[in-house]
Amino acid sequence: MPHWKKAFPLDLAEEAHFGRREFVRFLAVVSAGFTAGIGYLAIRKRPLEGAPDQAHKNLGPLRICETGDVSPGNSRLFTYRDEQDRCILVRTTNGDLRAYRQTCTHLGCSVRWDGRRLECPCHQGFFEIERGFPVQGPPTRPLSALRVEEKAGGIWITGELPKPTVAVEENQS
Ligand code: FES
Repeated sequence: MPHWKKAFPLDLAEEAHFGRREFVRFLAVVSAGFTAGIGYLAIRKRPLEGAPDQAHKNLGPLRICETGDVSPGNSRLFTYRDEQDRCILVRTTNGDLRAYRQTCTHLGCSVRWDGRRLECPCHQGFFEIERGFPVQGPPTRPLSALRVEEKAGGIWITGELPKPTVAVEENQS
């Protein structure tokens, strides 16, 4: 036997066997950790669904504000389904309430109330307030409209309105 084998008595067959065992043990530990992580995420998911920033996700009726908070000729911004679903509530000069998603149907900029119509500042698109139809500029489709109601001292969004098919005459007053 060479001198170095006496100094380092390694059995290669045993070493290989030991290596496989270690590898299997390593896989078991990694699998257990992965399973525990997935379980933790599944448990965490439920409380997050009720977190404040998503509290009104997918709900129907949503109270926006007090009745007196939006005077004739003014508007108010709000979110509906989630924080990305930006919408605008308008009380027209004759006291009617209208609500639309802010997303312009041209290229998706946010529309704003100019006191008479909803204006998209990106390409000077305009929508009439009665039903959200485009009346000027590049947009060709109406805004997404929401059903708005006044009840119990508040202004509520109670759902979505179907897309209108016939435009109304824009009030030129
Ligand atoms: S994105 Fe609104 S007019 Fe172009």
